[in-house]
Amino acid sequence: MTDLRDKYLARINDASEEAALEQVRLDAIGKKGEVSLAMRSLGKMTPEERQVEGPRLNALKDEITSAIAAKKAALEDAALEERLSREWLDVTLPARGGAGGPARGSIHPISQVWEECTTIFGDMGFTMAEGPQVESDWYNFGALNIPDYHPAREEQDTFYMHRGEGDDRPAHVLRTQTSPVQIRSMEEHGAPLRVICPGRVYRADYDQTHTPMFHQIEGLAIDRDLSMANLKWVLEEFFTAYFGRTVKTRFRASHFPFTEPSAEVDIQCSFEGGTVKVGEGDGWLEVLGSGMVHPKVLQAGGVDPDQWQGFAFGMGIDRMAMLKYGIPDLRAFFDSDLRWLRHYGFSALQVPTLRGGA
Ligand code: DAH
Repeated sequence: MTDLRDKYLARINDASEEAALEQVRLDAIGKKGEVSLAMRSLGKMTPEERQVEGPRLNALKDEITSAIAAKKAALEDAALEERLSREWLDVTLPARGGAGGPARGSIHPISQVWEECTTIFGDMGFTMAEGPQVESDWYNFGALNIPDYHPAREEQDTFYMHRGEGDDRPAHVLRTQTSPVQIRSMEEHGAPLRVICPGRVYRADYDQTHTPMFHQIEGLAIDRDLSMANLKWVLEEFFTAYFGRTVKTRFRASHFPFTEPSAEVDIQCSFEGGTVKVGEGDGWLEVLGSGMVHPKVLQAGGVDPDQWQGFAFGMGIDRMAMLKYGIPDLRAFFDSDLRWLRHYGFSALQVPTLRGGA
């Protein structure tokens, strides 16, 4: 019995890996293990012998079982220690080089164009403002002189937030345009004012040129004696900086509830060979809506329309990115396809400059 004990405790002690330990377990207390066989032979003993041998064998079995468990835990700890020291990683090291150089993320075209636009307008004295994406009915529509019956409010365009049963206050909406930031900026800063408001907007629409979420950039300038001429100058200055070449514009009379007069602005481009080239040719492409801020809108923002005038404009950031970087399908912007991002993305170090990226 002491032989058995010494033998197996020694083997357990010597086992250097889990497989060896398992073998010891089988040899000692497995079905055909030595200790198990000894226990089975208890039946052939005299009751007296059994009374002595039985408890001894049981104690031996328990001792071996716990010795194995302890050794197993020790082996696992050692394996973990070993792995931790082997897989040690210095997170302060530079990114590991892949096949094509250092592994890197890239700046999404939307972020790039967002930065380019705010940089250019910033240089013209516009400060940046942002507003909430979940907007009240008042800011998104009412304050912008969009009456209740206006088709823009209809369900197919606007995402309405759910209201509780019996709660008949006007619903909040996912803002359908960045124009509500005009009102918020007027309320916050009063006149005079020059702000540029980039942000996400939402409409229930989906095809090659429409996605339910997209990006707009809104501009608002309020001062004494502002006119459409100032608007035209600012926009032409912007397009020239943005596209890196002189871009002719064409103002077409239009209608928006929040401006009077209103104009849609086209930029000069050619469509030859199936690609759009801005700043050449004799074609026109509509890129934004604009106008002189409606007196009711100034009033809604707390600005006296007898003292101040303003011009405003709104354009699609995604559209501007497609035009400048030759990206054909809007939906791909939001697919998170790495191949697309590698192709159209920008280096994180390529900081937009006033005339950058042209
Ligand atoms: N909010 C308009 C839209 O989403 C765009 C727009 C038109 C903005 C005229 C303006 C503006 O500020 O003056 O279609």
